[in-house]
Amino acid sequence: MTQRFGGQWTLIKLEMLQSYLSFYTTALKNQNFSLCYIDAFAGSGNVDLKTEHNVTGSALRALDHPFDRYIFIEQDESYLSELSSKVLKRAPGKCIDFISGDCNDSLRKVLSYKWYANHWRGVIFLDPYAMDLKWETLASIAKTQAFDVWYLFPLSALIRCLPREGRIPASWKEKIDGLLGTDEWQNELYHAPAQLSLFDDDRVERVEVEGVEAYVIKRLRTIFPGVSANPAVLRQSKNAPMFLLCFAISNSNPRAIQLSLNGADHILKHKT
Ligand SMILES: C[S@@+](CC[C@H](N)C(=O)[O-])C[C@H]1O[C@@H](n2cnc3c(N)ncnc32)[C@H](O)[C@@H]1O
Repeated sequence: MTQRFGGQWTLIKLEMLQSYLSFYTTALKNQNFSLCYIDAFAGSGNVDLKTEHNVTGSALRALDHPFDRYIFIEQDESYLSELSSKVLKRAPGKCIDFISGDCNDSLRKVLSYKWYANHWRGVIFLDPYAMDLKWETLASIAKTQAFDVWYLFPLSALIRCLPREGRIPASWKEKIDGLLGTDEWQNELYHAPAQLSLFDDDRVERVEVEGVEAYVIKRLRTIFPGVSANPAVLRQSKNAPMFLLCFAISNSNPRAIQLSLNGADHILKHKT
């Protein structure tokens, strides 16, 4: 069974990720680190797109790059078992952990290991369908200082929860708080309309989509020492924005930040 999801953005994100994995493993080849790749929404190994059948997914692509260890987390047990049989066929003998469960719980456990102190460095790919990734999970990645992160931020799912004129149900607010790690978004993303009449005191207006994108990057900068200023807006065929592909670095060493940012920015500027 092949998973069905995605659109033209799926190939773009996979190619960007793969270019970065190639850049990263080459750049760190002669350094004294062990390298780990973590895919926290690993899927079944393949994706079936409407336009293109049977595209190789992120986890299988990562195996083509010389990491010392791979960790694949997937909530759906049937996808995980499918992935594990494909992986074992494609790359027997590699060091791979398959973890079945929610990425937030699983990542927090995985990241409690002292990766940085034990000379590990790596890349984490976060590829949710929707608003599944909790802010605390991102914060726990940022604390490791050891991982670079590609996060396919669910822009259209967030925009759907942010009606132009406000009036957001409490349950949506809670979901947005969990995604962005604060409730300050209510003041940052909504303002009083430019033209107010006497009767409009409590009316608000949401910022444009570009304002929401900029706010996501601003939030990431509160926890990661390095964040690319050039996230890729991935669009569906009618040009509506679907996802914001963001790149962040947890290592606070300025040379490490510069190296990773140079590689990621080059990819982000040339692949969209
Ligand atoms: C967009 S797909 C990922 C595709 C994968 N990156 C690839 O390229 O093949 C998202 C995957 O995340 C899984 N998933 C959804 N919510 C999850 C969660 N909370 N924790 C772990 N996996 C989850 C879904 O079952 C699905 O397989």
